Order: sequence, then C-alpha cells, then structure tokens
Amino acid sequence: MHVLANLFKKVFRTKSVSSKETGELKRCLSAFDLTLLGVGAIIGTGIFVLTGIAAANQAGPAVILSFIVSGTACAFAALAYAELAASVGGCGSAYGYSYVAFGEIVAWIIGWILLLEYSVSVAAVANGWSGYFNNALHAVGLGLPDVLTKSPELGGIINLPASLIILILMGMLIKGAKQSAQLNTAMVFVKLLAIIIFVGVAMFNVHPENWHPFMPYGWFNTLPDGKTVGVLAGASLVFFAYVGFDAVSTAVEEAKDPQRDVPIGIISSLAFCTIIYVIVAGLLTGIVPYNTLGVDHPVAFALESIGYNWASALVSTGVIAGLTTVMLVLYYGLTRIILAMSRDGLITPYLSHVNPNTQTPIRVIIITGLIMSTAAGLVPLGALAELVNIGTLAAFVLVCLGVIVLRKRQPDLPRPFKNPFTPLFPALGMLSCGALMDFLPQQTWTRFLMWLGLGVVIYFVYSIRHSKLSKS
Ligand code: ALA
Repeated sequence: MHVLANLFKKVFRTKSVSSKETGELKRCLSAFDLTLLGVGAIIGTGIFVLTGIAAANQAGPAVILSFIVSGTACAFAALAYAELAASVGGCGSAYGYSYVAFGEIVAWIIGWILLLEYSVSVAAVANGWSGYFNNALHAVGLGLPDVLTKSPELGGIINLPASLIILILMGMLIKGAKQSAQLNTAMVFVKLLAIIIFVGVAMFNVHPENWHPFMPYGWFNTLPDGKTVGVLAGASLVFFAYVGFDAVSTAVEEAKDPQRDVPIGIISSLAFCTIIYVIVAGLLTGIVPYNTLGVDHPVAFALESIGYNWASALVSTGVIAGLTTVMLVLYYGLTRIILAMSRDGLITPYLSHVNPNTQTPIRVIIITGLIMSTAAGLVPLGALAELVNIGTLAAFVLVCLGVIVLRKRQPDLPRPFKNPFTPLFPALGMLSCGALMDFLPQQTWTRFLMWLGLGVVIYFVYSIRHSKLSKS
C-alpha cells in the first residue's frame, strides 16, 4: 500500500508556476507578429491539399461544413490555450501547462504526444510540398516518375522530394537558420498572395451546379472496408489545417507583452484562418466537380482545369514557399519541445547537447530529421495527417481539462486572460475534440495507442528516475 502511495506521489508530482524557466530570449514580438506567426504555421497542406482529398472522398462540397465543425472545436481549445499561455506560460506549451496542472506523468504523455504531432506534421506537410513541387517540375518538362513521388502504399517506391526537402531543412536548422519574424512575415504574405490569386480567379468561375449534391456522403458513415465518410469524418481529416495555432503559445518568451498579446495572437490567427478556409473550400468545390479533387495538388489542378495555367503556376509557387515555412516552424518547434523535456530530465540529456560551433542542438536535429525524412518518403499523406490529428486532439482535450483543474487547484493564480464561460466552454472543447477523435478510423487509433503504450514504457523505465523533480 505504502509503495503504491509513493509511486502515486512520484508520478503526479507537479512543477510550480514560479519554477517555469525565465527565458533569455529577446522580447520582440507584438500581437501582430504573433498573429502572423500563427498564420505562418497554420496555413499549409490542410487547405492546399487535404481540402481536395476530403471533398473527393469524404464530404463533397460540404467540406465547407467540415471546416466549420473542426474550426469550432479548435476555437474552444484556443481559448483554453490562451488562458494557460497567459497564466502559466513557458515555451513547452501544453507539456509545460500539464506539468503544473496535472503532474509529471500526464505532462510526459502530452509531451510524448506533441513529439508525435510535430514530427509527423513535418512529414505530412513534406508530402503536400512534394505534390506541388512535382507538379511545378512537370510544368517545365522535368516531372519525376510516379515510382519516385509516391509511397509504396500508393504504388510507388518512395516519395523522394518529400524525403529530400526534410534533409535540406535539417541542414538549414543545423547551420542555425532560425526563422526570423521578418522572414516569416514575408513568407506569410507570399502564401496569402497565392490565396488571393486563387480567390480572385475562382470567384468568377463558379458553377453552382458543382455544389449539388452538397452532402453526397451524409454526416457520418462507415464503409464496409472500415473507411469513414461524411462531413464529420471530413472534419476529423481537415482538422489538420488548423494544427499550428498552438505554436503561437511556444513564443511566450519572445512576446513583448505575453499576457495580452499571446491570447490575441492565438485567437486572431485561428479566426483569420477559419474564414480563409471556408472561402477557399467553397470556391474550390464550386469551380470543378468535387470528385475530381482527390489529387495531390488540388488547388493548382482546379485552376488548370478551368484554363488558368498562369494562375496555377503562380499559386503553386506560393504554396511551395508557404509549405516550406510551415515545415521549418514545426521542425523548429519539435526540437524546442524535446529541449524542454530534456531540461526537465524526462528525456536523455544526450539529445539536448548544443554543439559549441554552430550553437544548435545538432544531435536532436539530425536524429529527428532522419526519422521524419524516412516517414515522409514511405507513408502516404492521409495516414500521416490522421495520426497528427488524433495526437493533437488528445492534447487539446487535456489542455481544456487543464483550465478546469487549475481553476480549482490554484484559484488565486493571476489570469490576465480568462477563458469565458468556464467550465462550460472548456467542457465543450473536450467534447468536440473528443468527438473528432472518435470519427477517425480504427487504424489511426491502433497506431496512436501503440505510440502511447511505448511512451508509458519509456516513462517507467527511464523518465521517472531521471526527472529533475526526483532530485529536488
Ligand atoms: N496546419 C498545417 C498545415 O495545414 C500543419 O499544413
């Protein structure tokens, strides 16, 4: 009994809010910069690729509703993030908040899930990047054969461009190519320009008959082969398009006035992207029949189909540049979360070793880079995106719960931003994110549970004993 009580105490030990690391990073980001950072990390493969896949295979033109459903679930989670980022802070994001709210084992599990979210997102976005890149190569007569652009499951050997782009980013990060706010801003505008061109051309070429039938697969159905279809299944796939708004919360240490600006950055970047997504999804399914959109570069494809090759080329260029920054921000975020976990002793310090010459954590960059590059080459986009989604949704559920728990446990903690209608809104966040998890295919659940199982084993074999808290 005594042993169990001791174990319980150990795995649920918490960090105090005041023990959060005070950063030495320069506080230079305004609310506007943070919003752009969010938009930079958010808009990517989700809107430029998955909209087409979800429309063709799962939702039809009602993919617009899929975006609204998952955007609403994200809004609840965003409010919860905003409260915790402003009151608890720290660059470890959800990992850090749960160390304070729930205790070590939950923090470890969230951190472990975030590793999945960030690393698999990079691989998934690399797949989206490859679709547009190869399409651009084809346009100038240099296209690669299918065996070199498709994963084995889709009939190829390897998705070579997807694999290589990650290795190139790995080189950049090793050299210390830290994305600056200016570079990010420039890229965000390139990305937005691509969207403006698309919207400008598409709005004059809509054929309303393409929106009929609007909801060919209904709200939710499971097919005999286990695949799920319908608006809600589509919502759980296009949820990927919103992944990244939480990255704003990792910039707390660099924000000028974090308690005011980080909530603004999180909420306004999410609101802005939701509006863009609904417009783009509506136009995309309005200009060509939804069932033609299941390709790896649907936005460019749709523009070509209606005879606008110049617009397609411009949009593709913008997408290629835009997706590169999404990958860079997420890859960078991944190394940052590993550093936070390693600083706490939960992951071996071997990984957080900083090379004195380049002043970058070379080991972690190389190891994660090689793993992500292999995954990007061999696993298709849909499967990768669903795995990201289930992990991210699980983290969102816990962040919403964290708000409720911390309000009870630490009622006097200063809360510059308060999640409105607590506990109702966080509870709705848990419910909606939990439901989106439920709409994901069985296979995704199996992979996710295996990942969690592995995490729990590592915790009990290694982290519990090496945790900094066990020494203090
Ligand atoms: N939300 C990001 C994207 O869609 C990850 O690419």
